[in-house]
Amino acid sequence: MTSFRPKTVIEPFRIKSVEHIKQTTREQREEALAAAYYNPFLLKSEDVMIDLLTDSGTGAMSKQQWAGMMLGDESYAGSDSFFKFDAAVRKITGYRHVLPTHQGRAAERILFSAMLCKGDIVPNNTHFDTTRANVEYRGAIAKDILIAAGHDPSLVHPFKGNIDLIELARLLVASKHDTDGAAKVPIVMITVTNNSGGGQPVSMANLRAASKLCRDYGVPLFLDACRFAENAYFIKLREDGYQDKSPLEIAQEMFSHADGCTMSAKKDGLANIGGFLAFNDDELADKAKNILILSEGYVTYGGLAGYDMEAIAVGLEEVMREDYLAYRITSTQYLGSVLSGKHGIPIVQPPGGHAIYIDAKAMLPHIPQSEYPAWTLALILYLEGGIRSVEIGSVMFGRQPDGSEIPAANELVRLAFPRRVYTQSHVDYVAEVLGYIASKKDQIRWVRMMESPPVLRHFTAKFQPAHDGVLLADK
Ligand SMILES: Cc1ncc(COP(=O)(O)O)c(C=O)c1O
Repeated sequence: MTSFRPKTVIEPFRIKSVEHIKQTTREQREEALAAAYYNPFLLKSEDVMIDLLTDSGTGAMSKQQWAGMMLGDESYAGSDSFFKFDAAVRKITGYRHVLPTHQGRAAERILFSAMLCKGDIVPNNTHFDTTRANVEYRGAIAKDILIAAGHDPSLVHPFKGNIDLIELARLLVASKHDTDGAAKVPIVMITVTNNSGGGQPVSMANLRAASKLCRDYGVPLFLDACRFAENAYFIKLREDGYQDKSPLEIAQEMFSHADGCTMSAKKDGLANIGGFLAFNDDELADKAKNILILSEGYVTYGGLAGYDMEAIAVGLEEVMREDYLAYRITSTQYLGSVLSGKHGIPIVQPPGGHAIYIDAKAMLPHIPQSEYPAWTLALILYLEGGIRSVEIGSVMFGRQPDGSEIPAANELVRLAFPRRVYTQSHVDYVAEVLGYIASKKDQIRWVRMMESPPVLRHFTAKFQPAHDGVLLADK
């Protein structure tokens, strides 16, 4: 007899502790938006019903993680909690040196301070913004070399996060023959999954080939591993030869192709804070530990409390569970298929691991990029449904270092899902609100930027609706 195989993927957890969601009316949200100068970053979180601003540090911890926090050993040196943390990181990565840090960006800063000089080039599939900023802070050049398929939002490809191997080889050859320091590549990074490129995965074949190139040229390869577990699960689903392997085995192989990693434990560490830098090189360890002690803390706690390290150690075990990863990837894909299939909303295809990215340029062709279509769509999403998202478009990337404006390559609205926080009905609600907005898309008006700081303007810029205070016109 064949056994019953349910199609419904259930949340693989029961809810033990709840957080109340304040239900708001459209009028209340209109007031809240005006008070926040039409900038979602300036909203109070209590006025947000579904918060999809980021998946970073916003996840729900398990009872084992909370219990682990009570075991936190707060000794300055050699704490129990550090050894649990160290063992959990080594089990997955296999790297000898594990340095705890308060976030991923601290791991980046320490790594680049130890490895980069002015004028060096760092290739990456796509640098995340803190990674780019930390490379540039050293006077080095952050070079994104994503495969061409990764630049086309509507193209379906299983591994749109892959690094361009031909360009990587070219940079490594130029570095080898560099005599005046103008083309030196001291490190190569690959971001798994590729957050800034739509949360798209990198294949094992691509990691293996990049690794071979880097080893042939004697250049270390580091993973920006924030979403390593989601990437491992995509490999299991999409790459030949991995279907029967566990996410842990796949992750271990991914890390074996690299020489080290930076990690924000706020993502696939299933923790609310924390990160680490891990690698094998003993010489680098001496330098990095000195910088760690100078700026984060002693080597057995970095920027973390003992209880944070306990929570991360447990989180790293839990994130490798196949039922968790199946639920995580399925719920993102489900939202993507309802938005594009039922409501005809253009999204970056295929859906990534942690987020759906709506292509506002394609959805709202009547709004020129100079009028910020993705920012406007994010505002309407809040106004109509109390849902907070983030613009990844010309407000975030349009201003150039010389102060001039160049439209961003894409106008995306990212809906990033906190881990283990929202249920199926929340996802259905998001889809329903977006379906309503899509049915009125021709009536959407836009905003004008009134005030903005010279850098990172999306966090604090102030806006106003450009049409008599109206964002969604009657007709
Ligand atoms: C790919 C990637 N790298 C690095 C970081 C930085 O991590 P953190 O926010 O912990 O500093 C992030 C955070 O979102 C990220 O997505």
